[in-house]
Amino acid sequence: MILIQVGASSKNKSGKKKGALDFNSGWKYAPAPESKDHIQLKNRYDLFINGKFTEPESGKYFDTISPSTEKKLAEVAEANSNDVDKAVNAARHAYEKTWSRMPAKERGKYMYRIARIMQERARELAVIESMDGGKPIRESRDIDIPLAAAHFFYYAGWADKMDYSTPGAKTKSLGVAGQIIPWNFPLLMAAWKIAPALAAGNTVVLKPAETTPLTAMKLAEIIQEAGLPDGVVNIITGAGATGAAIVNHPGINKIAFTGSTEVGKIIQKALAGTNKKYTLELGGKAANIIFEDAAIDQAVEGIVNGIFFNQGHVCCAGSRLFVQESVADVVIRKLKDRMETLIVGDPLDKNTDIGAINSKDQLEKIKKYVKIGIHEGGVCYQSSCSVPSKGFFYRPTLFTNVSQSSRIVQEEIFGPVLSIQTFRTVEEVIEKANNIPYGLSGGVWTDKGSKIFKVTSQLRAGVIWANTYNKFDPTSPFGGYKESGMGREGGLHGLMPYLEVIH
Ligand code: NAI
Ligand code: MG
Repeated sequence: MILIQVGASSKNKSGKKKGALDFNSGWKYAPAPESKDHIQLKNRYDLFINGKFTEPESGKYFDTISPSTEKKLAEVAEANSNDVDKAVNAARHAYEKTWSRMPAKERGKYMYRIARIMQERARELAVIESMDGGKPIRESRDIDIPLAAAHFFYYAGWADKMDYSTPGAKTKSLGVAGQIIPWNFPLLMAAWKIAPALAAGNTVVLKPAETTPLTAMKLAEIIQEAGLPDGVVNIITGAGATGAAIVNHPGINKIAFTGSTEVGKIIQKALAGTNKKYTLELGGKAANIIFEDAAIDQAVEGIVNGIFFNQGHVCCAGSRLFVQESVADVVIRKLKDRMETLIVGDPLDKNTDIGAINSKDQLEKIKKYVKIGIHEGGVCYQSSCSVPSKGFFYRPTLFTNVSQSSRIVQEEIFGPVLSIQTFRTVEEVIEKANNIPYGLSGGVWTDKGSKIFKVTSQLRAGVIWANTYNKFDPTSPFGGYKESGMGREGGLHGLMPYLEVIH
């Protein structure tokens, strides 16, 4: 039998809660849906190769649906190995004939133009991102799209300053970059990958994830509108086989991949012994550490932001919470109260805190892990909020009574599921936090600067936030230790994987 406690307090026979505020049956926000009227989606999207939308040689198309309605939004082409070959050849031709010969400041101008058009079309991009991927409009509008434009602005500035990137040495572009991205930040990941590649003088073949291709196809339209020379950026759609064909194509000089550790390992094996450079940004299982001297209410907001932001579909999600024993009761109580106020529902509603899980498969994975957690002896608590009957949704969930060896503590769930452990000393929490195959990110909450320095210098993780969580900036490097990946993206560090340094 599966036992899940729901709601902030015990319920009576009628299912109504006693005592605690019931945000779902009493006061409610009126719906505040973002309009879809200004959105233009075609029924069908072809491959963007050599500056043109081109029918796939495979002749095949697949549907992309909205995970909040389960309705089809459009169909997109499935690129086979011949299509990949065409895209790589277009990128090679553009690299040799145009892009690598163009003065760097001219390259920068195109990138600024792309950034500005992204800003102009921000509303449209945000709505499509939320429709295709399920994330709340507040996030796509305030985080994903502005940050995507910011990446183009930031790297546009680097284009003509490459000589300053490596003082005392010269740099050279690599050629054609193959880029494969996931579904959790579709447009942002596309910008994150394309912008440094272009600034460094490379050309690109990019493949978005199969469940979220639409903003990438909109980006293809923007690239056309910006007049970027044909073939400099090619965007092709498909699933794992298309990704593998990019990885294995001999005309590729560099692979940039973000996704699961499992696929990352396959790619790393495939690239062994080739001359291709690569960066891999893979899974995570971040520790969010709350000390007794932290500002507790702020920390609770940070926990919520760390794990429930984007439905927990975040590689750096703060999915393991460590609370100092003396404040554990108060933190958990406040966290449960806060969870009760979170609104799960229509991603296009501006009140929504937690949107749709990206796909049925991902929802099944989350449910599977919650069952595992319960069977392992974890105590599961879920908010009592209502959840739409259609679409893929999951309530914010937390587990107590878990141990270091629990699978829900060790494995990446990629959903709104938090596991909570307690600790007494700094040394203990550092050891527990590091005892994991991953090392992408972490968080520390304390009033003491010295504790921040001690913890951040000893956690084996690429990014650690202090008294905040899930903040991103194009100037800041991002990447993992251990099974969280190789290499860094963002900032000056993010240019290096796209350059050859000549001493
Ligand atoms: P995935 O790793 O299969 O997909 C990521 C991208 O890789 C997609 O574009 C996909 O088409 C492509 N791909 C799949 N197989 C490939 C192959 N053999 N060669 C080249 N490209 C390939 O991730 P999936 O299945 O969508 O999600 C599974 C789990 O992965 C999630 O539950 C989550 O734990 C983790 N994940 C981590 C992400 C991160 O940001 N670190 C992002 C997405 C998923
Ligand atoms: Mg979709």
